[in-house]
Amino acid sequence: MKRRYVINFNTKNLPERQTDCLIIGGGVAGLFTAWQVARTGANVTLITKQALTESNSQQAQGGIAAALGADDCPELHFQDTITAGAGLCDEEAVQVLVHEGREQVKLLLQLGAEFDRDENGLSLTREGCHSRRRVLHAQGDATGAEIVRALQQQVRACRNVVILESHYAVDLLVSDQCCHGALVLQQASRQLEVFRSGTVVLATGGAGQLYRHTTNPGVATADGIALAYRAGVEIMDAEFIQFHPTALALANTPSFLISEAVRGEGGILLDPKGQRFMPAYHEMAELAPRDVVARAIHQEMVKGASDQVYLDLSRIGKSKIKKRFPTITATCARYGLDITEQPIPVAPAAHYMMGGVKINLQGQTNIDRLYCCGEASCSGVHGANRLASNSLLEGLVFGARIAREIAKLSPAAAGPVVHWQQEGQPELAPEAGPDLRAGLQQVMSEQVGLVRSAAGLTAAAHFFAERSPIQHYAAVNAGQMEVLNMLEAARIIGMAAAMRTESRGGHFRQDYPEPSANWQKHILQKG
Ligand code: SIN
Repeated sequence: MKRRYVINFNTKNLPERQTDCLIIGGGVAGLFTAWQVARTGANVTLITKQALTESNSQQAQGGIAAALGADDCPELHFQDTITAGAGLCDEEAVQVLVHEGREQVKLLLQLGAEFDRDENGLSLTREGCHSRRRVLHAQGDATGAEIVRALQQQVRACRNVVILESHYAVDLLVSDQCCHGALVLQQASRQLEVFRSGTVVLATGGAGQLYRHTTNPGVATADGIALAYRAGVEIMDAEFIQFHPTALALANTPSFLISEAVRGEGGILLDPKGQRFMPAYHEMAELAPRDVVARAIHQEMVKGASDQVYLDLSRIGKSKIKKRFPTITATCARYGLDITEQPIPVAPAAHYMMGGVKINLQGQTNIDRLYCCGEASCSGVHGANRLASNSLLEGLVFGARIAREIAKLSPAAAGPVVHWQQEGQPELAPEAGPDLRAGLQQVMSEQVGLVRSAAGLTAAAHFFAERSPIQHYAAVNAGQMEVLNMLEAARIIGMAAAMRTESRGGHFRQDYPEPSANWQKHILQKG
């Protein structure tokens, strides 16, 4: 029997809460949607599984892209997004992004987000595949933290928004193709609760933790993809995973992000022998699309039998390095590296999932009253490879659209009683914990990573098949629920990667190294 819920429960026996709109996730997508929905007068409950500051958004360095420069326009931003997307962007969605994005960024400024400025006004930088300087940044390389700060301030000031941290969304309550809320685990008391809600917005973020090396924080475990899939929601383009070319590669240190803006300001990549190599791979050299740079680095690492290449910042100048990249400078210094004097050892690391919960232009999924926003979603704006700094923008644009859509809905009917008892479902054995997590990270990194092949993807499929008996057990705590979600999401990604017999954007197959016209299409999966 296929798993529908990760635990056994009967809503009749559980405490209930009622809200107009339940938002799951507290990054930029969740916060902005919460604020926009609250402005319509609706009561909003926003839950996060850890503290509100734990998100990919909070850690975003490079910035947020918007065609605001004197030499720029939405049409150029559109073209660059389409080029990076490698043939799979939804053009209508990209038009929405680049046009409405400008307005939403102006709104962010009104809401108090303080972006860096220079003598010309807003200071704009360049990142990979952008034909213009159009990336706004804050405090040098702490853009996400500044946007989150400004949005949190707004959301906390709304009397009709309740924020609940350490509340883990276990599963969605869906019946007759309509979402009525979610089962939520209050982690401190371990109390399971039913959150009845007129609408639900998934804003659960990314999937970087499926890999051993990632720029993402520990919370990025693909929960939204897994719980949506179990509820019969369509997942699109799951095979497209973006590896950031330059994560810090020092022994025993996290894969801390070294922003692409460092290359945008003049940083160059050197092979293990100290030679520059990117001009031989692409005319845009270090600012080629991310997938191109990441694979070039991988090739140089294999050639040089090394685990890293180097990012040389000497062309930027010492004082500019410190002023422009204070977070990177300080973090590397903590690990004993003075980046004004030494090149930074870097290697690619999992960074962003282009695919996810399929949504339409209003942010709606195939289930009534269920919406999705941000990295967990697949709106079609990123195609096979996201243009740098388009993701915070996507969270704003679709967050605003979702709020407008929700405002049009009539009140929801009361949700039904739900009772789930999987046949003979005992409690999950304790080994469904850290070992399983590490095992799946290894398989994903080695077989479903930057470079894939039929043999590796078959090995990954065996790994998942061998662990399928876990589906007959009920999770006993949030840690196990998270591992089960990771297993589900990893399997979905592996299946799509095996199916797509070509290379495109964030999906590279050694055995099919070229794009194929037959594959200029999407893969949809539904539980
Ligand atoms: C970076 O700063 O390089 C990351 C920006 C992004 O992923 O959009």
